[in-house]
Amino acid sequence: MDRFVIKGGTRLEGRIRVNGSKNAALPLLAAALLTDQPVTLRGVPNLADIASMLRLLGELGCPKTGESIGSPQTLTVQSRDESACHARYDIVRTMRAGICVLGPLLARRGSARVSMPGGCAIGDRPVDLHLRGLEALGARISLDSGDIVATTPPGGRLRGARIFLGGPFGSTVLGTANVMSAATLARGTTVIESAACEPEIVDLAAMLSAMGARISGAGSPRITIHGVEALTGVDHEVIPDRIEAGTLMCAAAITDGDVVIENCPLDALMAAVDRLHAMGVSVEELHESRGTSDGAGGVDPMRATCRVRRIGAMKPVEITTQPHPGFPTDLQAQFLATLCLSSGNSVVTEKIFPERFLHVAELARMGAQVNRAGATVIVSGVHRLVGAPVMASDLRASAGLVLAGLAATGTTVINRVYHLDRGYEHLDQRLGTLGARIVREDDRAATEERVPVIETKPRESVRSA
Ligand code: EPU
Repeated sequence: MDRFVIKGGTRLEGRIRVNGSKNAALPLLAAALLTDQPVTLRGVPNLADIASMLRLLGELGCPKTGESIGSPQTLTVQSRDESACHARYDIVRTMRAGICVLGPLLARRGSARVSMPGGCAIGDRPVDLHLRGLEALGARISLDSGDIVATTPPGGRLRGARIFLGGPFGSTVLGTANVMSAATLARGTTVIESAACEPEIVDLAAMLSAMGARISGAGSPRITIHGVEALTGVDHEVIPDRIEAGTLMCAAAITDGDVVIENCPLDALMAAVDRLHAMGVSVEELHESRGTSDGAGGVDPMRATCRVRRIGAMKPVEITTQPHPGFPTDLQAQFLATLCLSSGNSVVTEKIFPERFLHVAELARMGAQVNRAGATVIVSGVHRLVGAPVMASDLRASAGLVLAGLAATGTTVINRVYHLDRGYEHLDQRLGTLGARIVREDDRAATEERVPVIETKPRESVRSA
């Protein structure tokens, strides 16, 4: 298992380009099961979760064809054997997004058996809304040996329906992806009410539309899908990762740095940018961002270039996580860490995953003044954080600890960074290009190096006896 050894105190400066979005790429890959033609994705980040999804698709008869090209990768998958329908526990337990194959398998192959994902470090994470949505499309669903078993109604096709996908914590992102994907091949029209509005859903709808699906309203709470007979192959570029971009913004803010971020999905980060402005952090869109990624000359606010730097002392703010376009839960830990060095009391409330605060106790080990009451944390800003050994617990909590380590005096050792590697490609090296001092170590090797050598003295005493 790897760990990061971070020597803090360096201002980050320079330019960095945002990678493709993990959370967009995962349901896009699963949607390849909806056709027997090749699906090519560009800008796919090279991450453990992506590798797991490719392994899962391979087991479902939809392998990667040819080698991935470049970094970020361009890769092609193609469904060639439609007889396999079992997404096994071994894979789904390592990557909850494995649930994304449920809707596509059911819609195209008529049956699916997908291991029910369990809880994870950030909360219970049920999938009841996914199942309710698919049942409304006529699916018959049961649970067998920990697997969700789903089949289409007699006649072999799902049928369009009006579906309400809201739950106690708002809508569901992957649930919306599942139901929207399944409805593309259903007979008739589906209306999803209280659909997730996240940019990853808009990207999925864009790709499905390019495959021949008839979808309108993606990005709003009501999505309408007119089912079609079949979908074709596609060549699609994944949107940039808004959470990576927001994390890089926090890295500039917490180190009092000056960073230019390219390929930045500013349009998807309005709530985060609003909080940064309130904190006294300037996020300035640069003129050079005026142009699409293919140089066609248009404006693409999802691929902007912006300069991020602090203007004076960092001010405290209130943050409440909400479904998009509200403040994203996936940036809560990074902002909370950044606010540890603000000049007053901040209030951070988590409304999506009320238990998602495993980073708080670790930040306290670095001298942060953080007090949690239920789903709210009061962060009283301190003048400095002090490096310490800390434990990464989930992906975004780990990112928060990296940010704290960058700003802390002394050395911070973050154990178990495999959590971080699930969602950030080579974050150590990438931050290194901005001046961060992060060394990745194999923690077993590091522990062995430090085992004290205790044989010298006893030998001498034996000799002298
Ligand atoms: N929920 C239900 N029932 C359901 C589904 C969800 O009650 O059937 C609840 C959840 O417990 C939670 C809320 O609804 O309180 C939202 O969960 P959602 O289903 O939207 O989460 P998800 O789709 O499983 C995706 C991202 C998460 C991100 C959430 C919220 C991927 C692969 N995962 O998860 O990303 O936090 O949306 O925006 O897209 C991450 O990248 O670190 C990460 C955890």
